[in-house]
Amino acid sequence: MSSFIKNAWYVAMWAQALEPGKVVQREIAGHDIAIYRMPDGTPAALDDRCPHRSAPLHLGRVCPNGNLQCGYHGLQFNATGACAVNPHGKGVIPVALRVRSYPVTERHSLIWVWTGDQPADPALIPDLSVIDRAAPKDVTYRDVLEMEANYQLVIDNLLDLSHVAFLHGGVLGNDSTVAADIAVTQEGDSVTVSRWMPNVKPPGLFDMLFRRDGSLVDHWSAITWMAPSCLLNNAGVTAVRAPQSAGTGIFGLHLLTPVNERKTVYHFAAVRQNPLPFPDDVHAKIMEDLKVLRRKAFVTEDEPMIEAQQRVIDKVGAEAARPVLLAVDGGPVRYRRVLDDIRARQAALGQQAG
Ligand code: FES
Ligand SMILES: [Fe+2]
Repeated sequence: MSSFIKNAWYVAMWAQALEPGKVVQREIAGHDIAIYRMPDGTPAALDDRCPHRSAPLHLGRVCPNGNLQCGYHGLQFNATGACAVNPHGKGVIPVALRVRSYPVTERHSLIWVWTGDQPADPALIPDLSVIDRAAPKDVTYRDVLEMEANYQLVIDNLLDLSHVAFLHGGVLGNDSTVAADIAVTQEGDSVTVSRWMPNVKPPGLFDMLFRRDGSLVDHWSAITWMAPSCLLNNAGVTAVRAPQSAGTGIFGLHLLTPVNERKTVYHFAAVRQNPLPFPDDVHAKIMEDLKVLRRKAFVTEDEPMIEAQQRVIDKVGAEAARPVLLAVDGGPVRYRRVLDDIRARQAALGQQAG
């Protein structure tokens, strides 16, 4: 059985990656999809297979009238997936000459695609409005990487940040991250894992954002998983016993798109919260370092570990690889329960519809 949630919005790409006039191919939860912009900028998404002779539609072109033209024999499809122009013979359009269209929308500077068979509900798009509210200079480069692993292993990694002390060598977290009390809370289909770490040595990245001298701080992190696969980490530091509002930090966006059962595309960015009034050149350097440090941690530290973990699990089998749980696993256990619950709800809906 597939591990994907069918009726859900998935990130297809950062909005800036969908350039006018281009057709971009994405595989999302097993669906091959051709995505492009209409002449007015509105995104459109069609199944990436021409019904004539199965040429991929992403090898075609966007016509001035907004139709997507197959690159092989020139059929044109409109954004609903109906064939609008047949340049051959008398131009007759058989009823079967149509492709599936996917609900697609642009929000939070991302392109989202709905892969479900139930009506698309825009209210289910995870709330990432922190990125809309921030000044452009307070948002890092909108980045992306690929992991050869199931998306749930990446969520496990992010919802249990106890790994940061061991895998990321004191830059993103340290011993205090391990020792911290963890609280797991659930709100609807979202799960938050919070850590409060008073009077601790700041991890390198947070010291860089704050006093830059290594002196003790109160440190917090609250990472929220929003079904099915987006996470938002509110993390920062403040002076010992000072309110959080007097401190500084980041919102880390971690947006996971399952490609297939063994591949995940990971879009990420950091948004500054309450940045200190450093001179412009220092601020710009901090943003650049944030981008570089986070990418290095995800690509050279998380990715090899998660991919290696996936290979071991594939070798021994899911049953043998069932985890022996620790105190830090409350978050991962809870979100997997919510995912199971959503799958059960959607299966019941599908049965009603069928
Ligand atoms: S394969 Fe698309 S028009 Fe022939
Ligand atoms: Fe990590």
